[in-house]
Amino acid sequence: MRKSLIVGNWKMNKTIQEALKAVKALKNEIADVTDIEILICPSFTSLYIINNEIKNSNINLGAQNIFWETKGSFTGEVSPIMIKNVGCSYVLIGHSERRQYFYETNKTANKKIKAALLAGLIPIVCVGETLREKKENMTFKIIKKQIKQNLVGLAIGDASSVVIAYEPIWAIGTGKTPTSNQIEEIHFFIRKIYDEMYKNVAEKVRIIYGGSINSDNISEFMKKSNIDGGLVGSASLETKVFSRIIKYSRF
Ligand code: PGA
Repeated sequence: MRKSLIVGNWKMNKTIQEALKAVKALKNEIADVTDIEILICPSFTSLYIINNEIKNSNINLGAQNIFWETKGSFTGEVSPIMIKNVGCSYVLIGHSERRQYFYETNKTANKKIKAALLAGLIPIVCVGETLREKKENMTFKIIKKQIKQNLVGLAIGDASSVVIAYEPIWAIGTGKTPTSNQIEEIHFFIRKIYDEMYKNVAEKVRIIYGGSINSDNISEFMKKSNIDGGLVGSASLETKVFSRIIKYSRF
């Protein structure tokens, strides 16, 4: 049985004070949630203080990025060991904004995934097609290539702990989403690729959806058997909205 995972990706938002205020409020709002795994990914600068705040709560901590080396002369980068050390259990890898603005590729994502696993972090690997690729009916081809190249060389045990986030780029921050049936079809396809790559792993892997999730559309998505959760951007910045998304089954 796969436990659903709902992630708040705060991106480059919130100062330390704002992040702390938000997490204190979130802690109260979702204190009684046990059926969903809750994860927030704040900026690097807030990780330390938030880790102190969420001890003994049902909120987990993740980073939005890492570098693949463990230490050394890499000015401006943060290593997987540092991220683990500050209290994170998860890290987002290959988010489309990283690919778009910082030239990350499937190859660099693969290096980061391996480094994350080595440090004991669970990578949340983001894949998804652009609008042009969707219009040219290339979605399945692109997703297959991304999954294969991102996971190349991963041992079976590691491959089963990775979380895949399907995030169509045209749906991020646009208010547009695929239908729940379309998402389900792609998640099923991802599971099939997994099945081709690894024996008896596909059913264990969590595949979450991201792109313009809000408190109105989440329950429709979560009805589908292959949608194991959500990666929420802007709607995670408002505590009331984000906690409503987490508690979708009660509304
Ligand atoms: P959004 O972002 O929810 O604001 O569309 C999702 C994401 O980029 O992970």
